[in-house]
Amino acid sequence: MIYPLSAFRFPDDPARLFPGTPERELVLEIGFGDGRYWPSRVQQVPVAPNYLGVEVSGASLLKAQRRLTRAGIVNAHLSKLPALVMLDAVLPEQCLSEIIVNFPDPWPKQDHLEMRLLRVPFFRLAASRLRAGGALLLTTDHREYFEFACREADESEVMRAEPGAAPPAALETKYARKWRELGLEVYHARFTPTAHPQLPRPDIRPYPPQPPQPPEPAQQETDAVPHAILTASQSLDFSDFQKSALRGPGYTVVLLDAYRSLSRPEYSVLAHVEESELTQEVLVTVTHRADGSTLVRLAKFGGPVITAGVKAAVGAVTAELVQRGGAVTHSGY
Ligand SMILES: C[S@@+](CC[C@H](N)C(=O)[O-])C[C@H]1O[C@@H](n2cnc3c(N)ncnc32)[C@H](O)[C@@H]1O
Repeated sequence: MIYPLSAFRFPDDPARLFPGTPERELVLEIGFGDGRYWPSRVQQVPVAPNYLGVEVSGASLLKAQRRLTRAGIVNAHLSKLPALVMLDAVLPEQCLSEIIVNFPDPWPKQDHLEMRLLRVPFFRLAASRLRAGGALLLTTDHREYFEFACREADESEVMRAEPGAAPPAALETKYARKWRELGLEVYHARFTPTAHPQLPRPDIRPYPPQPPQPPEPAQQETDAVPHAILTASQSLDFSDFQKSALRGPGYTVVLLDAYRSLSRPEYSVLAHVEESELTQEVLVTVTHRADGSTLVRLAKFGGPVITAGVKAAVGAVTAELVQRGGAVTHSGY
């Protein structure tokens, strides 16, 4: 199931997140990509631990969700969140039995080193969230990052690195297969806490919790940005914009508001899109172009996941323009 940030409490209680299996261990995977690791991993154990996956790529999220559904794994939640938010704000102290990091982005350039995840502050946070006996498992093809991570763990003074052979499931991810085909070596270490530091928690206002919705296969992701082109409509003026709602198969779209750009002949329409597994606020831009046409397009802002509902939001904004005298010459949503 996909959990938006608003579905969590700060900090949350793992037993609340997994009411059907509260007694099981909890594993966090960071940057699960297309989600091959966990289905492969649970094949090797009699009882699947509870699983939380965080990933910043929306397209990966839905691919991974489909893999979990196909594998029949129900005690697993995915979230489009940066790892540090999950660790710092959501998870309580000493709740995790494992943290999995497979093939993290290596950020190899010298002036990008601070973008790397596995640095001292991360190791301190990870050590505070792991239970006694828990471990962080790192697998990577990038030798320099691997050595860097081992040094950072050492400098954190709360984690100890034990290099070893990568577990089989870590060799089945998309990136593992890619590097294997190229004949590249893979490096693995198990980092175990030597202390559980007490870190100050971020001051976050609790959201009213949303009950998770049952999964439904209505969503589809695509890499193409939903858009439409219209002949010049009478007016781009949305000052009389009215909130409106649209329901379709598996989604509800509410066009909430329209904002005029101060610098360009452009409006941005804020849309709330609800689907079974996912709730998103997206922006749809309406741009008056030099050739007299009008471009309606999903904005990249916030990294929206392109689903049937999001496409419908672009369609709803296009329909608004048609009502204002525009005629659609091309649509891609
Ligand atoms: C090189 S890919 C590896 C994907 C997958 N683990 C695999 O082995 O195929 C790194 C992944 O980490 C994700 N990522 C990068 N920074 C992240 C962060 N701070 N929190 C969560 N995911 C992150 C990226 O979006 C990307 O999908």
